[in-house]
Amino acid sequence: MKRRETLLILSTGAVAIASDATAFIQSAQAGLKYPGRLKIGTITEMDSKKILHFNFPTEESPAVVFRLPNGQLAAFSTICTHMGCPVQYEASDQLFKCPCHQSHFSATMSGAVVAGPAPRPLPKISVDVDHDGNIYATSISEPPFGTKMSIHEVEEIYGEKKL
Ligand code: FES
Repeated sequence: MKRRETLLILSTGAVAIASDATAFIQSAQAGLKYPGRLKIGTITEMDSKKILHFNFPTEESPAVVFRLPNGQLAAFSTICTHMGCPVQYEASDQLFKCPCHQSHFSATMSGAVVAGPAPRPLPKISVDVDHDGNIYATSISEPPFGTKMSIHEVEEIYGEKKL
């Protein structure tokens, strides 16, 4: 291969890498446009279904809201902090359980890890209820596993951490 052909291949590769980087930046910027205050549903809906599923802080971030035994609302990301598997909430023992490596997170202890290899609690989501009974997600304790947004970007959108 001639030197000129080698340079052409290298420069083409550099363009491809630059293109991927641009796509990543555009994707991260797209995340910044996600609404800062997201309506999840209503108290009536939640009390009839017992749990509401929604996505927060990005459209790719599954989460749930439900009532704790004391009647308070609780909302958490349902992405495991170990390696990103989806966790399931089991109301009978107020635990989120991860099927991948058996981490358990306590809903009554702010998402704390009570078993398994997960390194951090489940991200906790703050919710508000207006006088019409509409429930809103307003902030999250940290970006869920794999989210392209940094905690600084999340704080820019959702304000100071409230948890
Ligand atoms: S991904 Fe959940 S415990 Fe490993």
